[in-house]
Amino acid sequence: MIKGLFATHAIEAMPHVDAGEPVEGGAEGEVTLKRVLTARHLVMLGIGAVIGAGIFAITGTAAAQFAGPALVISFLIAGFACALAGMCYAEFAAMLPVSGSAYSYSYATLGEVVAWFVGWALVLEYLFAAATVAVAWSGYFGELLRTLTSATGITMTLPAALSSAPLTFNDAGHLVTTGTLVNLPAILIVSAISWLCYRGITQSATVNAIIVAVKVIVILLFLVVMFHFINTDFWHPFIPANEGGSKFGWAGVYRGATLVFFAYIGFDAVSTAAGEAKNPQRDMPIGILGSLLICTVLYIAMAATMTGVAPFRMLNTPEPVATAISYVMGTIAPGSFTSGILGLLKILVVFAALAGLSSVILVMLMGQPRIFYSMSRDGLMPKPLGKLHPKFRTPYIGTVIVGVIAATLAGLFPVDVLGDLVSMGTLLAFTTVCIGVLVLRRTRPELPRAFRVPWPWVVCLLGAASCMFLFWQAFKVRWPLLTGWIAIGFLIYAFYGYRNSKLRQSQG
Ligand code: ALA
Repeated sequence: MIKGLFATHAIEAMPHVDAGEPVEGGAEGEVTLKRVLTARHLVMLGIGAVIGAGIFAITGTAAAQFAGPALVISFLIAGFACALAGMCYAEFAAMLPVSGSAYSYSYATLGEVVAWFVGWALVLEYLFAAATVAVAWSGYFGELLRTLTSATGITMTLPAALSSAPLTFNDAGHLVTTGTLVNLPAILIVSAISWLCYRGITQSATVNAIIVAVKVIVILLFLVVMFHFINTDFWHPFIPANEGGSKFGWAGVYRGATLVFFAYIGFDAVSTAAGEAKNPQRDMPIGILGSLLICTVLYIAMAATMTGVAPFRMLNTPEPVATAISYVMGTIAPGSFTSGILGLLKILVVFAALAGLSSVILVMLMGQPRIFYSMSRDGLMPKPLGKLHPKFRTPYIGTVIVGVIAATLAGLFPVDVLGDLVSMGTLLAFTTVCIGVLVLRRTRPELPRAFRVPWPWVVCLLGAASCMFLFWQAFKVRWPLLTGWIAIGFLIYAFYGYRNSKLRQSQG
């Protein structure tokens, strides 16, 4: 029995495709995913998944409550862990161009039960992240309505009962009601984006590319304009003295790193599109590492700029980028040309945040059904999740189910707890991928690898250790929720996956 639990997928059984060859079921004459994505699409997809609530919403709390100006160091620490994990993802994605991401890699290296565990952790990453970011989207949407109201004099605000979470966790960790009804904008944005995902990957990738261009241009504008207002006094002391617990000092820098890790999540989502890439062997590493590099540079510049133009304690708002601009506006003559420029920049930032958050939701909602698709084809999830739409060739049943669950979570729950769950699930998956690369190097050294992690013992072990370090910072506080989630996962495996696993059935 134990042997069955750790049975691994033969690597050759996975589609080992070159550009344009059919994939996953194609040999059986079934409908297949379309191979249409190029390296440029993949980098765009990565940036689309990465730049979102992390930089536009969470950075403020990380600076004001934990790291101060040393937020830059927090971003470097989280970026370092992601770079190591990113290389491991690149090696796998180029070698196994399938849509199941870390789930498929674990199945090929560490065995079925680990693969299930990773697939289940990825639900936290993708489905819960879509919900978390939709809640942040709703916050920025409210900000947009307020800005339009003050600009036009026409009242356009939504009642609070329809725009914030009706449920939350109190300090004692109990679920309580807040008195509101539902977070309607969050539900609507998830529904609209789910519809796009249902319609097809080409449309989705094109919409994503436009949105990514908007958010990157606005971030660059922010950096260029704000550069002129940097006051280096705000960077002193760079690491504020510890005020107890994780409040500032090095403890704060580490806690901040776990918080801003959320900002990096998503580059790995590129790997879920491997089944739809034209030339995965060459383009997967470019997509994964290219998007990670661009985002890291932008994040460090943003962190330095935001803490350089305003006192870090003032950034503790749901929209810290807009707050930083407002602070600078308060220091110059109202009605001046510069003030007008800054006002315009602030509006652009709100639009870019809305666009940025939308593209994160898009990639997350695209990734989750593709992981379910792979799990279903292995018999670990019910069959309908492995069906493709006859016309759009998308995993449409999974897309609808994921959309409904994400919309429900987004409509009912607040961001904070969801965010920690997302980071923990993702860090577990990253750790497994780092270890998986080492295992496969030993068990199947002869396999052709289009991209090879350099110094694998150093990179993989350091990658796993740094992901576990970040994981621990959140797990210390949230362990009951995470262990509960894992327990539910293993129950489903025991009662469904274990009995229906195609691999174990084929092995008798
Ligand atoms: N990295 C994504 C974000 O920050 C999840 O929204």
